[in-house]
Amino acid sequence: MEIRFLGHAAFALSHEGTTVLIDPFLTGNPKAAASADELEATTILLTHGHADHIGDTVAIAKRTGAPVVAIVELAGELAGELAADGVATHDPNLGGTVAFDWGWVKLVPAWHTSTTPKGTVNTPAGLLVNLGGSTVYHTGDTCLFGDLALIAQRDPVDVVLMCIGGHYTMDRHDAVAAAEMIGAPTVIPMHYDTFGLIETDAQAFKADVEARTSSSVVVLSPGESHSP
Ligand code: NI
Ligand code: MN
Repeated sequence: MEIRFLGHAAFALSHEGTTVLIDPFLTGNPKAAASADELEATTILLTHGHADHIGDTVAIAKRTGAPVVAIVELAGELAGELAADGVATHDPNLGGTVAFDWGWVKLVPAWHTSTTPKGTVNTPAGLLVNLGGSTVYHTGDTCLFGDLALIAQRDPVDVVLMCIGGHYTMDRHDAVAAAEMIGAPTVIPMHYDTFGLIETDAQAFKADVEARTSSSVVVLSPGESHSP
C-alpha cells in the first residue's frame, strides 16, 4: 500500500488499482499537493463535516462516481447532493464497519465538534481503514482521550495518521501520549502548518515520539508518499 499525503488532513491510500481518498480538502487548502480535478478515487472517506475535511468531496464524487462513506447525518446531507448523479453514500455511525471489495472502513470516536458549511450538525469520527492487508488509522480532528488505547487494542494499527497542530485538535505534546497509547509501528503527522494557528514543529514531535516509544515517525511534505 502507498500512503500519499495531499496536505492538511487529506490522504490517498493506494493498492493494486484502488485509491481510497480521505478528507479531500484541496480547493482553498494552501498546502494542497493536487487539484480536485486530477485525483482518482475508488472510494471517499470522511472523518467529519468541517470545511477543511469535506473539502472537494462532492465534486470528486460526481466526477469519479466514487461512493462516499461518512457518519449518518453527514452522509444524509451528501446523499442529497449526490443521489441525483447516481453516486452512492454509506452512512454508518460510530462502531460501524462498511466493507468493500478492496477492504473495509470502521468509524471510531474522535473528540471534536462538527457542523458542515451548510449547517448539518454531525459527530466527528476517526477512521480505521483496512487496505492491502494493512490497517491505517486516521485520527480525525481529535483531542487526546483514553480510548485511543482501546481502539488500537481492538484493531491493531500499522500506520496512524495523527493530528498534531493544536488549537483545533491535540497538539504535538498530547500527540506523543496518543502515539504511546496507539503503539503503531509508523506515525505520520498531519493537520499542522496549514494555517498560522496550527503551526508546530513536526521534527520535534518525531524526536519526542521516537525517544519515548518504539514507533517511527515519518514526516511527509504535501505530495510525498510512504509505503509501510
Ligand atoms: Ni474539524
Ligand atoms: Mn480540521
